[in-house]
Amino acid sequence: MSQPYERIFNFSAGPCTLPVPVLEKARDEMLNAKGTGMSVMEMSHRSKPYEAIIQKAEADLRKLMAIPEGYRVLFLQGGASLQFSMVPMCFLPKDGDADYVVTGSWGVKAVEAACLEGCANVIYDAKATNYDRAPLLRDLDRTPGASYLHFTSNETIQGVDFLADPEGVTGDVICDMSSNILSRPCDVSSYSMIYAGAQKNMGPAGVVVVIMRQDLIDRVPANLHPMLDYRLQAANDSMYNTPPCYSIYMCGLVYEWLLELGGLDKMREINEAKAMVIYHAIDGSGGFYKAHAQPGSRSRMNVTFTLPSDELTDAFIKEAKAQRLDGLTGHRSVGGARASIYNAFPREGCEVLAAFMKDFASKNG
Ligand SMILES: Cc1ncc(COP(=O)(O)O)c(C=O)c1O
Repeated sequence: MSQPYERIFNFSAGPCTLPVPVLEKARDEMLNAKGTGMSVMEMSHRSKPYEAIIQKAEADLRKLMAIPEGYRVLFLQGGASLQFSMVPMCFLPKDGDADYVVTGSWGVKAVEAACLEGCANVIYDAKATNYDRAPLLRDLDRTPGASYLHFTSNETIQGVDFLADPEGVTGDVICDMSSNILSRPCDVSSYSMIYAGAQKNMGPAGVVVVIMRQDLIDRVPANLHPMLDYRLQAANDSMYNTPPCYSIYMCGLVYEWLLELGGLDKMREINEAKAMVIYHAIDGSGGFYKAHAQPGSRSRMNVTFTLPSDELTDAFIKEAKAQRLDGLTGHRSVGGARASIYNAFPREGCEVLAAFMKDFASKNG
């Protein structure tokens, strides 16, 4: 089953597969974008053509996610990792508290950064079970007066997903949605702020999208370093300095692709079906493969599973690679394999992997 341009099946956790029609459009516009006589990389960010690109990207993202009026959309830099710091710098007072829900490695990093600013209370931590599950947020005991609750909607390394928006949670909810944004519809109004690095479901690395309710921006303290100040970034429409122009342009192409595909309802349907192909291969293997995440928390983006031994895991990864199934090595904290199957990853690749898994298990089980 050949792929266009002899592309491999790239299961990388990010940066990762981008939609072929997006790459083709970028290729076609590389030397002369939209009749400007130059590449988007060569355009002034203050020019009319570039303004049109960033504004359309924002408008399409708003359409895709049905972002309500009172929310700002920012295209920032520093990756999701800088948001781990900016969030507490702006919203965790030195003498205050914030609640953190930790369901995996990225949540741990968010807590570490928050602790440099103030008191980050870990109100849930799945470490005891090696981060294999996500709780129901509304059932957790909250710290009275906590400034916000932070959680990671999909833990990329462990493959653990909340699978739902945070309904019934009081106070401000801030979410790191880096690895499952745009993978399914999302009720933006149930969050005060969402942030996501682009390099999984939106585009190349270099830009982080922040969706933030206006009243949070109004609460940003004075005298912050300019680049770390959401208020200043919003006042300058994400152009306080030179933005990551090309990455934003690519995100815009991905948003157009998603809209043409039928939006996030359609994307969810496709993603559910893709993930189930691999989970069925795991569950149908008679215990040869074991899913890392508990059934109610299984990520549709990062399917994590282990094999009976390290030797078999090594052989699995090596043989898979020889069959053009690339990037399956699991993170060392979980072991085993991880199949990252973001929006742009083709269903055919999931089917080829499932067939390979069955064959490998029958030969080695
Ligand atoms: C859920 C999640 N949060 C944060 C990050 C860090 O993102 P960045 O490398 O853009 O700082 C990642 C990266 O993979 C991630 O998966």
